[in-house]
Amino acid sequence: MHNFIETPICMGRERTKHPTQKPEKIIRHLLEVFSNEGDVILDCFAGSGTTTNAALKIGRNSISIDNNKKYFEIMKKRVANHNLYAKITFDKI
Ligand SMILES: C[S@@+](CC[C@H](N)C(=O)[O-])C[C@H]1O[C@@H](n2cnc3c(N)ncnc32)[C@H](O)[C@@H]1O
Repeated sequence: MHNFIETPICMGRERTKHPTQKPEKIIRHLLEVFSNEGDVILDCFAGSGTTTNAALKIGRNSISIDNNKKYFEIMKKRVANHNLYAKITFDKI
């Protein structure tokens, strides 16, 4: 384990309109270190779905929550782009 990860900021095709989107490379690396295949990754502040995307790509399951419909739509699109199976709903409480 190391305490420093360097990546460029999100740019190009990865970049969405979410203002604080994290680079997928970092999240993916953390998931690989701290979880196992088949685990469920819970992200209660999922934003553009970086964690969702990374988790599904490396064989984790994902529960992702965001209370902003605009960001939820971005997340939905990102997941769909990778032909991953996901049950996606937006429920207003
Ligand atoms: C720092 S951003 C997450 C960015 C995300 N990691 C990404 O890469 O796109 C935090 C998110 O938490 C959401 N949020 C804030 N308060 C919330 C709440 N009470 N319940 C659910 N989501 C919330 C915001 O809409 C925002 O998208």
